[in-house]
Amino acid sequence: MNEARGSGRGKIILLGEHAVVHGEPAIATGLGQEVRIRLVPVGEGGPRVPEVLRPAVDAATAALGMSPTRGLALEIAGDLPVAVGLGSSAALSVALVRALAALDRRALSPSEAARLANEVEKVFHGTPSGIDATTAAHGGLLWFETGPPMRWEEVAAGGPLPLVVALSGEEHDTGRSVGGLRRRAESSPEVYGPVFGAIGGLVRAGRAAIERAAWPLLGELMSMNHALLRACGVSTDALDRVVDDALRCGALGAKLTGAGGGGAAIALASPDGEADLVAALRGRGWNAFRARSA
Ligand code: MEV
Repeated sequence: MNEARGSGRGKIILLGEHAVVHGEPAIATGLGQEVRIRLVPVGEGGPRVPEVLRPAVDAATAALGMSPTRGLALEIAGDLPVAVGLGSSAALSVALVRALAALDRRALSPSEAARLANEVEKVFHGTPSGIDATTAAHGGLLWFETGPPMRWEEVAAGGPLPLVVALSGEEHDTGRSVGGLRRRAESSPEVYGPVFGAIGGLVRAGRAAIERAAWPLLGELMSMNHALLRACGVSTDALDRVVDDALRCGALGAKLTGAGGGGAAIALASPDGEADLVAALRGRGWNAFRARSA
């Protein structure tokens, strides 16, 4: 048995997180940063998979219909920041199912990898919509609906998206954020249903804006999306501050991205204005960088 490798991309959600769990569409893009996994057979006496990853490895082997793995060393590498809202758990899940499949001499299509990785994602955060695993496996700019049936398609942007990422400095927990909002939505569906519907409206308008490269409109929609996410209770003071700072520094729009409760924000720069926006945000103390979509 030889060593096996797999990788999965990070992602950012441009519009529609959380509401996507409740049936609305969302738009996400893959990132150039990824998680890479290397599995090395080391025999029965060798090092084991780290305890914290054992449930994910067990879920991945079960999803692949493989018998439980023994005597494997697992190495994680890559350049994707972890637990900051950039989809590291989905990227890890995709990398894991790909590496395990390779160990079994199977090649997975991106759709198979996404479907299996979404089963692993359930270990990390209960009720994933599938958008993170789908984007981690396919990359590109995607329109996503959880369904059923789950469906996604590529969105053709009218030009390169001038996106900047800024980290709030707070780690976050997707399961806690999604679960908390689900409980609030279940106890007051008459309040949250229309809010999720309004977010879905922003996503539909956002797709048209992306296709026309109408960046000022897209920026407006992103900022409105942030306000609605904040109203849903998934933002934090730090995320609100980074969003406000991005707007003060000239961003066309800004919002939290992913589950919130910490993690990352994204800002839309004016065309070719990414480097200036990154420098201005860094000047205000934020860990900001240009998003490399992939
Ligand atoms: C997390 O990146 C995105 C959420 O919408 C959860 C999900 O869709 O599974 C918050």
